[in-house]
Amino acid sequence: MNPEKPEPSRIVILISGSGSNMQAIAEACTKREIDGEIVAVISNRPGVMGLDRATSFGVPTQVVDHTEYSSREEFDVHLMRAIDEYTPDLVVLAGFMRILTPDFVRRYKGRMLNIHPSLLPKYKGLDTHKRALEAGDKEHGVTVHFVSEDLDGGPNVIQAVVPVLDDDNIDTLRTRVQVQEHVIYPIAVKWFVEGRLTMEKGDAYFDNEMLPDSGVQLNA
Ligand code: GRF
Repeated sequence: MNPEKPEPSRIVILISGSGSNMQAIAEACTKREIDGEIVAVISNRPGVMGLDRATSFGVPTQVVDHTEYSSREEFDVHLMRAIDEYTPDLVVLAGFMRILTPDFVRRYKGRMLNIHPSLLPKYKGLDTHKRALEAGDKEHGVTVHFVSEDLDGGPNVIQAVVPVLDDDNIDTLRTRVQVQEHVIYPIAVKWFVEGRLTMEKGDAYFDNEMLPDSGVQLNA
């Protein structure tokens, strides 16, 4: 190890499904756009596409199957053990479809990010694209935020705003939003590993300046 150059940040990514956001971050690490290494991808569901994608990047994978535990608390304890084996600097939730216990959230406070497909604080929870369409919104989008004990409620880091078109359906809108997910998540991870992004007392800071409630906003 070169003492002049610190080691790349260690990133653990949690997934439940296809892993396209994980792939976007992995590609940015491979290109050295992010000075980080994905040291593990952990899924709560066996057999999902994201595990194959991670393997194709040479990233170690693990399954901690939530159906094998009798309570949320017990699952989270095992998940924390699995994560901590890899001594991560950053935990990235990328389509990880589990509600986390307060102990879990506290353990990774200030070093855990999530991506949510809406312009938070609008549309916390599920079915965000459907809800935006039903409300007749002209704009929709996606948010990366720090994770707090409040579900989908931690401070926003970055949002991409996308237009809602007159002939949009759930699939076309989801596709347009996902293109932006793959843009903003690598940016947020890059900022974090560069030490430019922090969370203090429930607020997000970029270069020591408190971010607005929306986070940094990009218009797609
Ligand atoms: C994304 O749409 C993300 O916003 C949501 O779950 C989906 C995960 O997709 N939280 P992928 O597994 O990254 O392809």
